[in-house]
Amino acid sequence: MSQLSVKELRVTFPLRDGTLEAVKGVSFDLEAGDSLGIVGESGSGKSVCVSTLMGLVPRPPAQISGQALFEGIELCSCSSKTMRGVRGKRISMIFQDPMTSLNPHQRVIDQIAEPLRIHQGVSKKEAGKRALAAMKSVGISDAEKRARAWPHEFSGGMRQRVMIAMAMISEPEILIADEPTTALDVTVQRQILELMSELQKKTGMSLILISHDLAVVAEVCERVAVMRNGEMVEQGTTSDVLRNPQHPYTKGLLLCNPALHEPGTRLTTLEEVMGGDDLCGEAT
Ligand SMILES: Nc1ncnc2c1ncn2[C@@H]1O[C@H](COP(=O)(O)OP(=O)(O)O)[C@@H](O)[C@H]1O
Ligand SMILES: [Mg+2]
Repeated sequence: MSQLSVKELRVTFPLRDGTLEAVKGVSFDLEAGDSLGIVGESGSGKSVCVSTLMGLVPRPPAQISGQALFEGIELCSCSSKTMRGVRGKRISMIFQDPMTSLNPHQRVIDQIAEPLRIHQGVSKKEAGKRALAAMKSVGISDAEKRARAWPHEFSGGMRQRVMIAMAMISEPEILIADEPTTALDVTVQRQILELMSELQKKTGMSLILISHDLAVVAEVCERVAVMRNGEMVEQGTTSDVLRNPQHPYTKGLLLCNPALHEPGTRLTTLEEVMGGDDLCGEAT
């Protein structure tokens, strides 16, 4: 039995003149401790898909059907009380833009500690102590000194580390990261991806990493699912999908990926995954 089993998930939004089917019967399984990358161009339904699992897509107006079974809990139809016991606690999510997710008026350490205080009723002192430890674990140097800083005093990469610390502090079973590095420059992006990968291995949590960039998910995830136009057109182990893409869209993604053509750090990893095969030759 998978940790998370999504079957025929369908999400429809009403429009003024008809409906928009943002997710069209998506199915996938996530095993405990596994890492799944969901890749696809902007608008393909990646965020709607995972937001639905987290009960973040309000219905109405949205119509949701299908199943998403997480450790005996049906995420698509559970009560909001049950969902509150899952979201931010057993399944945590981080988003693309840390600045809009962080409260500008609250000191960094208090924000990291907040999930513990709200969800678990941990004392202020204990939560502060654990928040400081979390800051250190996500590689924020001088954590003691910076704990009392405000979000605007942190760089983009540091803010994303804060978001990861917040997501990790409740020791979630699954971390969902929705384009967590898209707003960051390449070097910082790499550091954040490495951090997430390291934390995943250390804690044994599962990871769903969403990106429009196949190279990003290939770097971190053992499995990859390709979304297009609300459908999952292909999924498999990362090496299988890179080595032997089945869907023309996946082939296109491989060919169009600049990381596959430019010498750079990410290319090395992809070459490793590919076992040195010539990707472009493979896909044509
Ligand atoms: N609340 C909403 N109401 C109507 N349409 C939406 C809503 N949220 C997302 N969409 C639409 O659903 C589609 C998929 O969006 P999204 O999942 O955000 O794409 P992605 O994350 O892959 O870039 C897009 O066409 C988007 O405009
Ligand atoms: Mg998105």
